[in-house]
Amino acid sequence: MLNPFYYGQVAIGADFTDRTTELKELVGELDSGARVFLISPRRYGKTSLAFNALAALKERGIITAYMDMYDVSTVEQFAAHYARAIARAAETKTESIVGFIREVIPSLRPNITISAEGEISVGIEAAPKKPELSLLIKELLEIPQKTAERKKKKFAVFFDEFQEIRNVGGEALEKAMRSVFQRQKDVGYLFAGSKQHIMSDMVLNKNKPFYKMGKVLFLGKIPSGELSSFISGKFGASGKTMDAGTEDEIIKVSRAIPYYTLHLCHEIWNGCADKKSVPRSAVAEAVDRLVQGLSPMFISMWDSLALSQRKLLQAMAASGATDLFSMGFINSYRLGSASSVQKSEALLTAKGLLEKEDGVMMFSDIWFREWIKKKYLGR
Ligand SMILES: Nc1ncnc2c1ncn2[C@@H]1O[C@H](COP(=O)(O)OP(=O)(O)OP(=O)(O)O)[C@@H](O)[C@H]1O
Ligand SMILES: [Mg+2]
Repeated sequence: MLNPFYYGQVAIGADFTDRTTELKELVGELDSGARVFLISPRRYGKTSLAFNALAALKERGIITAYMDMYDVSTVEQFAAHYARAIARAAETKTESIVGFIREVIPSLRPNITISAEGEISVGIEAAPKKPELSLLIKELLEIPQKTAERKKKKFAVFFDEFQEIRNVGGEALEKAMRSVFQRQKDVGYLFAGSKQHIMSDMVLNKNKPFYKMGKVLFLGKIPSGELSSFISGKFGASGKTMDAGTEDEIIKVSRAIPYYTLHLCHEIWNGCADKKSVPRSAVAEAVDRLVQGLSPMFISMWDSLALSQRKLLQAMAASGATDLFSMGFINSYRLGSASSVQKSEALLTAKGLLEKEDGVMMFSDIWFREWIKKKYLGR
């Protein structure tokens, strides 16, 4: 039997659990041509939720397009990828897709290649001057609405990791999007992002182009009870029963963050592949194996940190403190002053090692915390 737990890829269909309310809301909003901002810390399940919403919209006959802003770093690349995303959504035959792309970004002289698997890539051969490029972008952003009118269908576009737009086209691109999108009646837009401070600034700061542009949905965790039934159901369906307390232990260790819960279950299942029952001790054993496997990466990360940053991480791993600036915490771990803790916290956040969860500073990677605990705290 194959391991039934997947992580790190979009969870869809039977691998997708809960989120009924959010899904209904997203589908309803996008179907009505609204704009929605979906914000959560990393690995909570935004991309999966969005793909399930797109699948439901497609079933309703809506044309759906998807674009990951991490794939692009310049406005020209944005144009090429966006053209491809819309073309793939609007057309089915490869030649029509290619024709569509050529038609919508002619001044970039797209160099289109098709792999043996049929995957279409778009390179750019010309870099138009700024005014021409701005015009091209505006025209391109109009295409979904025009396509919707031509095909007498609705359109929904999903931009993943949308905060990256600031590195791609800055405020100029945001402004162009705002002016075009707010006039479109038949196109719904979903903007998802995990860099919460940037996403929040985009929509909640009245000096920014996207201010009040749409509904903001902060995605929380899947309720522990739901997640717990989902995983025991999967263990059960693969012929394994769990000893009492095992699900709770999994949820506790993985902090009910879907990615980590599924990652841990995958590892536990591997450890019990030829057994019928899953003992509670399998959880700690799986964490050991996981952390061991990731150790080379953590070592190089650790080596790159200043002593004060390492001390703060060790203190956080040891205590699980919620207030890093309390004198009790600072003194018991000899961290110096509140200002030095603040500096380390800012640098660790900038490196992506710490992030806020419900207003509390946490390790972005829970396995990194476990690694520190094992290596330096003997736990
Ligand atoms: N509703 C769900 N049901 C079951 N598993 C889920 C669900 N949502 C997420 N997962 C699990 O969590 C993993 C991460 O989900 P996803 O990539 O959708 O999160 P994300 O918020 O987009 O993450 P990132 O911030 O890294 O982009 C998935 O690969 C899957 O294993
Ligand atoms: Mg994602």
